[in-house]
Amino acid sequence: MRAMVYRGPYRIRVEEKDRPVVEHPNDAIVRVTRAAICGSDLHLYHGLMPDTRVGTTFGHEFIGVVDEVGPSVQSLKAGDRVMVPFNIFCGSCFFCARGLYSNCHNVNPNATAVGGIYGYSHTTGGYDGGQAEYVRVPFADVGPSLIPDWLADDDAVLLTDALATGYFGAQLGDIKEGDVVVVFGAGPVGLYAAKSSWLMGAGRVIVVDHLDYRLKKAAEFAHAEIINFAEYDDIVVHLKKITDHLGADVVIDAVGAEADGNLLQHVTSAKLKLQGGSAVALNWAIDSVRKGGTVSVMGAYGPIFNAVKFGDALNKGLTLRMNQAPVKRQWPRLFEHVKNGYLKPSDIVTHRIPLEHIAEAYHIFSSKLDGCIKPLIVPTES
Ligand SMILES: NC(=O)c1ccc[n+]([C@@H]2O[C@H](COP(=O)([O-])OP(=O)(O)OC[C@H]3O[C@@H](n4cnc5c(N)ncnc54)[C@H](O)[C@@H]3O)[C@@H](O)[C@H]2O)c1
Ligand SMILES: [Zn+2]
Ligand SMILES: [Zn+2]
Repeated sequence: MRAMVYRGPYRIRVEEKDRPVVEHPNDAIVRVTRAAICGSDLHLYHGLMPDTRVGTTFGHEFIGVVDEVGPSVQSLKAGDRVMVPFNIFCGSCFFCARGLYSNCHNVNPNATAVGGIYGYSHTTGGYDGGQAEYVRVPFADVGPSLIPDWLADDDAVLLTDALATGYFGAQLGDIKEGDVVVVFGAGPVGLYAAKSSWLMGAGRVIVVDHLDYRLKKAAEFAHAEIINFAEYDDIVVHLKKITDHLGADVVIDAVGAEADGNLLQHVTSAKLKLQGGSAVALNWAIDSVRKGGTVSVMGAYGPIFNAVKFGDALNKGLTLRMNQAPVKRQWPRLFEHVKNGYLKPSDIVTHRIPLEHIAEAYHIFSSKLDGCIKPLIVPTES
């Protein structure tokens, strides 16, 4: 089969690879009809995720058609259209029993923290991902769901991560009616988090980024107030000014460890590797939320040290909430919202690119070229 293959930082190409086979009775093999590139894939692409091995295939957002099932699979059969959450999870361990699907204990030899994720380095289990013609789906009776008839492929693929994550970000914010919500990052996760905040009763939603074309999307798609942080000496002071000098009730970090906006952080992380990433957005979140407020972190951070203002978080009495999204938990509500027309996930898709040209897709998404917000990959026809 043809598959995206990692060759080292900033180097990927499409190669011929063995088609995956059923390795366990509860596996399914899925022919991929849509995949997406996530902001998280950029951390791999930039060489920042520990134990990202040459030769692996990325891709944790995908949908497809079941090609083959193992002998114990009961809920799927060949020919079914399925959407597959980015988490690989067993459904029955201590953590899965508590809905912590992203922290499953049975799917990753390093499972003291994160569980299994498709195509996301050996830190999350070393599974090959869906930016390929075929992918092996373990625990096929647990993760995937049939795609409802009314859900288009371009929408379904966005529920496998980006939309579920944005929605989860708003959920963890514990938004009360009328709350002021600030979202850092106008990428796919931030856009969906902003849109979801209204569904949970926010009174004001403000999105902060430095890319004007993405902020424009935040105004159109998520009906948010928008702020370009590059236009202010101190974005935290500005946010305080426009929130009665109290700060926001809820702040959502949808940026993660590759944040721009602070030279010192950039030099100590990306250049000198003295810390696991740049915690600029997280520190802005801690500084711009009001005392007693909630910071919800969806942006990805590596396992090692970051200079985070933890003391300030303590002294302000903040609630910090975070996790990899347990995607399947978000689906029932998201199905309702999409079916009822409150959310049209594919409104943020800017590019549809054949698998053969995926290297170009990574380049334009990484460098934010050509108005790129969310690129979809088409490995095989629906
Ligand atoms: N927790 C989860 O389950 C989960 C799931 C998906 C993605 N993620 C993470 O969420 C983050 C966002 O993903 P995405 O797909 O939207 O990525 P993206 O790269 O498309 O978007 C990130 C945005 O943040 C902006 N930005 C950079 N520095 C900023 C700053 N200091 N303040 C405000 N904005 C800033 C960038 O300009 C960009 O528009 C990534 O870190 C990704 O790894 C987490
Ligand atoms: Zn992702
Ligand atoms: Zn489990």
